[in-house]
Amino acid sequence: MRLPTVILAATLAVSLTYSSPAPALSNPQATLNYDDPVIQRLRTDIKNALSQRDCHGCIAGLFAFKALSTLNRKLALLTLNEICPALLKTEKDVCLGLTETQGPVILDSLEASNLAGGDAKALCYQLTGVCGPLPITSGTMEFPKSRPPDAVAPPASGNQIDVLHLSDWHYDPLYVPGSEAVCKKPTCCRDYKTDGNSKSTTPIRAASSWGDYACDTPMKLAKSLLGHVQEVAQPALAILTGDIPPHDIWLADEATVVPIEKESYDTMASILNTTVYPTVGNHEAGPVNLADDWEKWLPSEAIESVRDYGAYNTSPRKGFRIISLNTNFCYRNNYYLYENWTTLYDPFHQLKWLVNQLQAAEDAKERVWIIGHVGPSQIDCIQNWSALYYQVVQRYSPHVIAEQFFGHTHRDDFALYYNSDQKTVKSAIATAWIGPSVTPFRNLNPGYRIYKVDTGSWNIFDSETYVADLSKAAIWDATGATPDWHFEYSARKAYGAHVPLADHEPLSASWWHNVTEAFEKNDDAFQQYWTYRGKSAKRIPECVKGSACPANIVCDLRAGKSSDMCSSRGFVTN
Ligand SMILES: *[C@@H]1O[C@H](CO)[C@@H](O)[C@H](O)[C@H]1NC(C)=O
Ligand SMILES: *[C@@H]1O[C@H](CO)[C@@H](O)[C@H](O)[C@H]1NC(C)=O
Ligand SMILES: *[C@@H]1O[C@H](CO)[C@@H](O)[C@H](O)[C@H]1NC(C)=O
Ligand SMILES: *[C@@H]1O[C@H](CO)[C@@H](O)[C@H](O)[C@H]1NC(C)=O
Repeated sequence: MRLPTVILAATLAVSLTYSSPAPALSNPQATLNYDDPVIQRLRTDIKNALSQRDCHGCIAGLFAFKALSTLNRKLALLTLNEICPALLKTEKDVCLGLTETQGPVILDSLEASNLAGGDAKALCYQLTGVCGPLPITSGTMEFPKSRPPDAVAPPASGNQIDVLHLSDWHYDPLYVPGSEAVCKKPTCCRDYKTDGNSKSTTPIRAASSWGDYACDTPMKLAKSLLGHVQEVAQPALAILTGDIPPHDIWLADEATVVPIEKESYDTMASILNTTVYPTVGNHEAGPVNLADDWEKWLPSEAIESVRDYGAYNTSPRKGFRIISLNTNFCYRNNYYLYENWTTLYDPFHQLKWLVNQLQAAEDAKERVWIIGHVGPSQIDCIQNWSALYYQVVQRYSPHVIAEQFFGHTHRDDFALYYNSDQKTVKSAIATAWIGPSVTPFRNLNPGYRIYKVDTGSWNIFDSETYVADLSKAAIWDATGATPDWHFEYSARKAYGAHVPLADHEPLSASWWHNVTEAFEKNDDAFQQYWTYRGKSAKRIPECVKGSACPANIVCDLRAGKSSDMCSSRGFVTN
C-alpha cells in the first residue's frame, strides 16, 4: 500500500486557469516537443490565465494541463515548476522539490481522471472552492445489523483517570537558534542558503532556542512540554493524533522522515510514564516504519494491522477499545485518492472495516474511542468520505462510540455530530475533540490537553489545556529561564459558567451544543472560546462581533461532516 504524503504542490494543478480550449488537443500526436506551436500555445495560455481564479477557468485549466501532460509529460512538469513560485508565493528550490516529488502523482491522477464526466468540477470544488459545492452522493453505508432499539450509553462509574492528548508534534531536527524566523519558505528557523529576504547579516527576527511562531518544534521545546506533563498529571494513557515530522514538504522523503519519527517516539517513551496510542498523520512515513516505532506501545495484532492499513483496533482496558484510523484516505491533498475517486469513495474499505469493528464492540457491549489525524469535520477531508463516516457515527453513537479525537488544524477545538438534520440539543449525539498542537506553527502557542475520563462510560468530564506563551521566548533565552508552561483553562469551568452542569454529568455533545448556543447569544463567551482556540497566542486574527466570522465558526462547530462547514474553503496546508 502506498501511504500518501501531504501535497502542497497539487494545489498548482487546479489553480491554473485556461481561457479557451486549444485546437488540435482532441487528437494528440504522441509526444510533441518543446518548440511545437501546440505546446507553446498551451504553456502560454496556462501562464496567462493564472490571474483568473474562477470555476470555468479552473476547469479549463485542468483540461489544458491534462492535454499537455498527454502530449509531453516532462514539459507538463516543467510548466508546473515554472508557475509554482508565483502561485504559491514561495521560492524556486521549494517548487523544484514539490514538482519532483508530487508532480508525477498529480499528473497520474489527472490522466486517470474523467474530467468531462464531472471530475473537473469536483476537483476544483474540493481543492480550491472556486466551483460551487458538489451534491453529496456518497450513498448509504451498509451495516451488518440495525441499531438496537434500546441502545443506551452505560452510566459513569465515578472512577476517573487522566488521559493525555498530544497532537501535531512536528519536530524539526534542522531547527537552528539564532537563524532567520521570517522567511519565504513553508517553515523557517533553519540555516537555508536562501530564505527569500534580500541579503542581510542580521535576521529580521532571530529564532529563539525554544521555538518561533513561523517554525516547527525544536526538540528542546518538545522535551520541556513532556516534562511539564509529568509535573501536572499522571496520565493512565495517552493518545497522539498524528504528524511527527516538520512542514518541509518539498524536502521530505522516507529517508529524512524515518529518523525523525524514531527520535520523537523514543523521546516520548523515555519521558512519559504511560502507553501512547498513536495515529497516522498526513506527514508520516510509511506504515512499516511506523509499526516498528509503535511496537513499544501496541500489542502484536495491532502492529500487524498498522503494517497493512496504517490503522488498528486495540483494547487498553476490559470493555474499552481504541480504534485508530488512517485518515489519509480522506485527506484532499492526498493526490493518490483522485486516481479512482468517483468509484473508490471508501478507499481500501477502511470505513467498512470500521463498521465491522464497531459492530463487534456493540455485540460485546464495549465502549469505543475513535482516534485519527484529519478530522472528518474538517474542510480538507473529502466530502464523500466524510458523509459516509457521519453515517457510521450516527449508527453507533452514543451507545458504542464514547468519544472521537483528531488533530491536524493545530487549534484547540471540537466538532459536533447529530442524529438528524435539525441540529438541536436533543439531536446532538457525539463530539470530536480536536487536540491543540505541540508545534507553535503558525502563530499559535504550543500546548497539550489532559482529559478527566470516567472508566465506566469512557466519557470526558473535563478537558484541561496547558500552554506556554511563546511571545516571551526571547526573554527566556536572555534570562536563562525555561518556558512558562501553565494551565490555560478547564472547559468545564470556562463554559460551565454559561451552561451549568451537575457534577455527575459529562461534557456531552448536548452540553457542547448548548455551549455553541451560548456563543451565539453572548459575544464575551464566543471571544473566550476564540482565544482558547488559538491557545491564547497574541497573534490570533480577530473574529469580530457583527461580522460573518462568529456565525461561520459556530456553524463549523456543528459540522461533523466537511460538507456542512460554513467558513471559506481556502487552501489548508497543515
Ligand atoms: C461519491 O460517491 C458516489 C458513490 O456512492 C459516487 O457515485 C460519486 O461520484 C462520488 N462523488 C465524488 C465527488 O467522488
Ligand atoms: C510510573 O507509573 C506508575 C503507575 O502507572 C507509578 O507507580 C510510578 O510511580 C510512575 N513512575 C514515575 C517515575 O512517575
Ligand atoms: C485505481 O484503480 C486501478 C485499476 O483498478 C488500480 O490499479 C489502482 O491501484 C487504483 N488506485 C488507487 C489509489 O487505489
Ligand atoms: C441545554 O439547554 C436546555 C435549554 O436551556 C436545557 O433544558 C438542557 O438541560 C441543557 N442541556 C445540557 C446538557 O446542558
